[in-house]
Amino acid sequence: MKVDGVHYRSIRLAADGWSVEVIDQTKLPHDFVIARLTTPDEIAVAIRTMQVRGAPLIGATAAYGVCLAMREDPSDRVLDHAYEMLLATRPTAVNLRWALDDMRGALRPLAPRERAAAAYRRAARICDDDVAINRAIGDNGLKLIRDLAARAKGDRPVNILTHCNAGWLATVDWGTALAPIYLAHDAGIPLHVWVDETRPRNQGAALTAWELGRHGVPHTVIVDNVGGHLMQHGMVDLCIVGTDRVTAAGDVCNKIGTYLKALAAHDNRVPFYVALPSPTIDWTVADGLREIPIEQRESAEVTRVTGRTASGETATVEIAAPGSPAANYAFDVTPARLITGLITDRGIAAASREGLRRLYPEQVSPRRSVV
Ligand code: MRU
Repeated sequence: MKVDGVHYRSIRLAADGWSVEVIDQTKLPHDFVIARLTTPDEIAVAIRTMQVRGAPLIGATAAYGVCLAMREDPSDRVLDHAYEMLLATRPTAVNLRWALDDMRGALRPLAPRERAAAAYRRAARICDDDVAINRAIGDNGLKLIRDLAARAKGDRPVNILTHCNAGWLATVDWGTALAPIYLAHDAGIPLHVWVDETRPRNQGAALTAWELGRHGVPHTVIVDNVGGHLMQHGMVDLCIVGTDRVTAAGDVCNKIGTYLKALAAHDNRVPFYVALPSPTIDWTVADGLREIPIEQRESAEVTRVTGRTASGETATVEIAAPGSPAANYAFDVTPARLITGLITDRGIAAASREGLRRLYPEQVSPRRSVV
């Protein structure tokens, strides 16, 4: 997508041909800063501190972490160390493990002297595939928005609610949940997006609103508890969110608060869709509530807020009663029964084992193939 007329991907190789450039998402929406990462450790820090975040981008960034490791030392020992070190950065998004498995699986059979060049080729392919997959998700989701617009007969825009940031910043390009929205907007379909602020890190207010604003998509930022009220008053036609891990049975793990939106949507008969690339499906997990590790982050993310003051400085302030403990669960699991459909690159699937298997017949869960 474009920033001030210049096309960017959220990750790319620097002009030197080997170091990695990312958009530092901790600086948005106030500053657009490109960070240059030169070592596997810097890659790990960028993922852990959420300079890069969003399931697909975490995977792509980790792939480049393996490239940097292979450039330093292409031995089996370093390959395994880079794999484990990068895997430990964030626990919930399965794209991280998927990308690292893909990289190690491709590199391990090669002679060490071949590994660095092969790693860069493989990481570039992961990025290119992500772009193509997200574009296909966009095309498939566009049909839903087109249908709703036809029913609205042009009297009013289609109102779409989204949570967190599943836009181009969270992927290599296009985004997942936002890809259909960008395509619909570009096709001239009148639409408006309700953007959940997404406490505690405010990915909605800071990142989704920034992306939509840059692209000229009409939107309004709301606090996280407003969605139910809007749905009760017919002000939401459709919810689309992204996901960090989908189970083989169609349960969806995504940013904390997604479950409450799905409950409200179900109660108000608002269609609730989840957009996902295939590497986000964890075919080894059947029970999302018990088997998906839910990241718990620092309590300071809850008790403090960072923003830009009127004088243009960045400041962090305390907002909780001094001394009160805070819990910071970063993700929750929405059961498949609350999900209208899964928007994938291969089409829209029912959120169920059968629905997913129909679109991905080549996938057989190793642990549960007889279920
Ligand atoms: O903690 P984050 O910002 O990495 O969480 C991101 C999300 O929950 C997104 O919705 C998800 O990764 C899908 S991104 C296409």
